[in-house]
Amino acid sequence: MTDLSALSQVDPDRPNAARMYDYYLGGSHNFAADRAAAELAIAAAPWIRKATHDNRAFLSRAVRYCIGEGVDQFLDLGSGIPTVGNVHEVAQAMEPDARVAYVDNEPVTVASAQALLGGLANCTITAADVRDPDAVFNAPGVRDLLDLSRPVALLTIAVLHFVSDEEDPLALVADYRSRLVPGSIHVLSHGTSEFDPDIAAGTEGIYRNTANPVHMRSVAAITALLDGTELVEPGIVDASMWRADEGQIPPERRGLVVGVGRVN
Ligand SMILES: C[S@@+](CC[C@H](N)C(=O)[O-])C[C@H]1O[C@@H](n2cnc3c(N)ncnc32)[C@H](O)[C@@H]1O
Repeated sequence: MTDLSALSQVDPDRPNAARMYDYYLGGSHNFAADRAAAELAIAAAPWIRKATHDNRAFLSRAVRYCIGEGVDQFLDLGSGIPTVGNVHEVAQAMEPDARVAYVDNEPVTVASAQALLGGLANCTITAADVRDPDAVFNAPGVRDLLDLSRPVALLTIAVLHFVSDEEDPLALVADYRSRLVPGSIHVLSHGTSEFDPDIAAGTEGIYRNTANPVHMRSVAAITALLDGTELVEPGIVDASMWRADEGQIPPERRGLVVGVGRVN
């Protein structure tokens, strides 16, 4: 059942990253303040809309990769407002019994996912802060759905750039992966300052005035988030280039890099 009580916590005048992202993707789960902030971000980083679409396409390819590797359970951290090609849709098209535990802390996102998932087998949405792995793993929607004696695909897609250095994203991902058995897979995408520091700084400035300050990182710092995993080909690349169709043209301005690592 959809629990709408958390929606009373929503401040429609304070831009939020989940709803700005929904706007970049052409969705309608956003308020005027979200759209205004998103337009500022688009002006600062003209590639941002393309990057969000590239990110969603990468997500689909990565989920299909995981299913192809025999990993049919997904823990999707910072899962976002439901849109085209949600993880369970992509996964269950290949493996009908695939299980997907979505986690997000934004009330519009959680309510939208509850409405979409209501009654669907093998899918849950948990309202939790991804910076608190104990809360995530102890939540019924995660604990009762995922079988941690079998491999899990840990999805951290466009979410870890909302975790500051002080909050130690390296320790956070190490904690999540330590709870997963070998054969699990960590899928990552992350905003980078590497290719255009000025644009990255402009984007950070805009997100500083939202509920979710963003922390763009160097490619080395993003690669370190997959340290301890076995990086699968083609390594850390632009979202549009990860196992993309032959002939894909490398982007001129890159803002989002991705990688996939096997947990051994
Ligand atoms: C840019 S969206 C990405 C959505 C989806 N993962 C994708 O890539 O299409 C980032 C999501 O992370 C969520 N998020 C940010 N910080 C979070 C936190 N500390 N705990 C839970 N969710 C968080 C936001 O609410 C938002 O839905």
